[in-house]
Amino acid sequence: MRKRILTGITTTGTPHIGNYLGAIRPALELVAPDNDSYFFLADYHALIKQIDPSEIEASVKNVALAWLSSGLDPDQSHFYRQSDIPEVQELTWILNCSAAKGLLNRAHAYKAMVAENAESGADEDKAINMGLFSYPILMAADILIFNATHVPVGPDQAQHMEMTRDIAGKFNHTYSKILTIPEAIIKSEISVPGNDGRKMSKSYNNIIPFLSSEKALEKSIAKIITNSLEPGEPKDHKTCNLFQLYSFFASAQEISNMKQSYKDGIGWGDVKKDLFTVINNEIIPIREKYNELKDEPDLLNDLFSDGARKVRPQAQELIDKLREAVGISKIV
Ligand code: TRP
Repeated sequence: MRKRILTGITTTGTPHIGNYLGAIRPALELVAPDNDSYFFLADYHALIKQIDPSEIEASVKNVALAWLSSGLDPDQSHFYRQSDIPEVQELTWILNCSAAKGLLNRAHAYKAMVAENAESGADEDKAINMGLFSYPILMAADILIFNATHVPVGPDQAQHMEMTRDIAGKFNHTYSKILTIPEAIIKSEISVPGNDGRKMSKSYNNIIPFLSSEKALEKSIAKIITNSLEPGEPKDHKTCNLFQLYSFFASAQEISNMKQSYKDGIGWGDVKKDLFTVINNEIIPIREKYNELKDEPDLLNDLFSDGARKVRPQAQELIDKLREAVGISKIV
């Protein structure tokens, strides 16, 4: 059977090198002529955490540009916004009625917030909206609406995938076998260090920008914290965040040469220069594409409407089947 690969990206924040390495690059590597691929912007998911409309709009734009600049070809993959497919919301409700509340009570993100509230002595539901609680159902709808067979996600999404399978199985069992039970492709966690050595994350303010100018990239690499070993002193590549970053972008040969240079006592300034070169070489075409697209809002809007036009009929077809299965269709 043909694989149907589908994955979504929540549109909060601006993509950085960590997002590129952890999500964008591996997903694009799965695109192949004998697969169908569906990549979408989970903008309704973003409303759970973000209430500033201009932030939402900016993030949708930046995440879309990051994907397109990194090589997503809308003629080869389906690329769309979640919010342009209203059938996803219709399916969300149908699934709400199949999903056990107890299942959702066990979702990690929700449970963690309840636990935090309990610890601080606050009401256990403090700052928890229904969107957060039912997040996994909207995610299940994203996946099931297009009969996805394979869903690449990070390890933090494994539980959501189990829930999707569970909810779909329950629907199929109650009514009829309409929903495709998807498989998760769990990417092993790659740990991308930020400029302070901790995991790269917007919330630590330690990101290396991805869609920035060459100068900004160079500056942010220069700021990466190292130990104080002098040039000439042998260094350990295994515990070095510069080396780790280098290895995500360099060829096998370059990596092995760099290991030797560490032993030979290469200075941090030189490592940073080489790190900049390998990252920049990969990013040059991405940056060019980004600069070409970023001032073309019409182009993005056209892409979104083309994307929706291509996939919506499939969503409508599934909804028709589901409505018939549950008894909401033409009276005969
Ligand atoms: N929850 C995913 C994340 O935060 C994003 C997402 C939303 C998604 N809907 C999806 C991923 C459907 C895969 C399939 O990473």
